[in-house]
Amino acid sequence: MGTLQAPLPEGFISLPVVDFSLSREEISRAIVNAGKDIGFFQVINHGVPKEVRRDMEAVCQEFFAMPAADRDDFYSDDNLKPNRFFSGSTYKTGGTKFWFDCLRLSSTFPIGDSKNDWPEKPQKLREIFERFAVLTRGMGMELLRLLSEGMGLRPDYFEGDLGRGNMTMNLNHYPVCQDPNTIGLPPHCDRNLLSLLIPSTVPGLQFSYKGSWFTVETMPDAYIVNFGLPLEVVTNGMLKSIEHRVVTNPKEARRSVGVFITPTWDCLISPAEEFLSKENPARYHAVTFREFYDMHSVVKDGLSSVLTISHKNSQEIVDTKI
Ligand code: OGA
Ligand code: NI
Repeated sequence: MGTLQAPLPEGFISLPVVDFSLSREEISRAIVNAGKDIGFFQVINHGVPKEVRRDMEAVCQEFFAMPAADRDDFYSDDNLKPNRFFSGSTYKTGGTKFWFDCLRLSSTFPIGDSKNDWPEKPQKLREIFERFAVLTRGMGMELLRLLSEGMGLRPDYFEGDLGRGNMTMNLNHYPVCQDPNTIGLPPHCDRNLLSLLIPSTVPGLQFSYKGSWFTVETMPDAYIVNFGLPLEVVTNGMLKSIEHRVVTNPKEARRSVGVFITPTWDCLISPAEEFLSKENPARYHAVTFREFYDMHSVVKDGLSSVLTISHKNSQEIVDTKI
């Protein structure tokens, strides 16, 4: 795993590679192994054409380069709004500011009319986003089928309510920042089921591993994938939802695009029966995704609604015996 790359400087980890051109069995095994260890991996030969990603990156760049007045039409501080542009630098978080701007879009699946709620500018944004989202989500659902096969679940385990909630897309922009003490995105675990990210070539994403932060380095054209908290619960803690953050960069701005596969609000988030036995009892209470989302919402006003900070264990069953 990762042997195709030259050794990286300290603090950088080459993520485990999941190569979609291998056999199903090999892919499944790679996903499960990565999920049990680092919880982050990179997917290569995923079948999403280069042009689709390039168009997406170009239109993102265009969006963030538009005159503020055009972008600000879409601006909102209301974190219950499914489609909005907002900025981490304006949060009312008791003085804490995060150095990122985000265009967050959401849609039903299939996307259908929900794209009419996305920005009209830049001109081709809706069309390009739709194509990108359909292909990226399709790859994510295939990944979940492979994961199910690798873990002994029925292949369509995540195709019901667990994976059928509204899809969210985050287009993050981290402007150049001279202050090394300012963070781009604070440490968090994702609240959705599965996160698929196209990182930029500018480093900044870090994940926590064995008590230290490591900067993510990927192969060209790879997707970075990580598991959200619901997957940790479904697998009764076997797969890890790992804390990650984005640090700022003094020289270059950074952009990333995340596609999030999400459960429906009424879906029960609980360990799959297949993983439970007398020796391995449930480690988490069953709650609806709506309750789950609230439990893992941040106390601080205005923080990004796919983020959660330090509430990771709130669903865990605590042994009350003394
Ligand atoms: C997120 C996230 C990482 C990045 O949006 O939840 O972790 O690199 N983004 O922007
Ligand atoms: Ni995240």
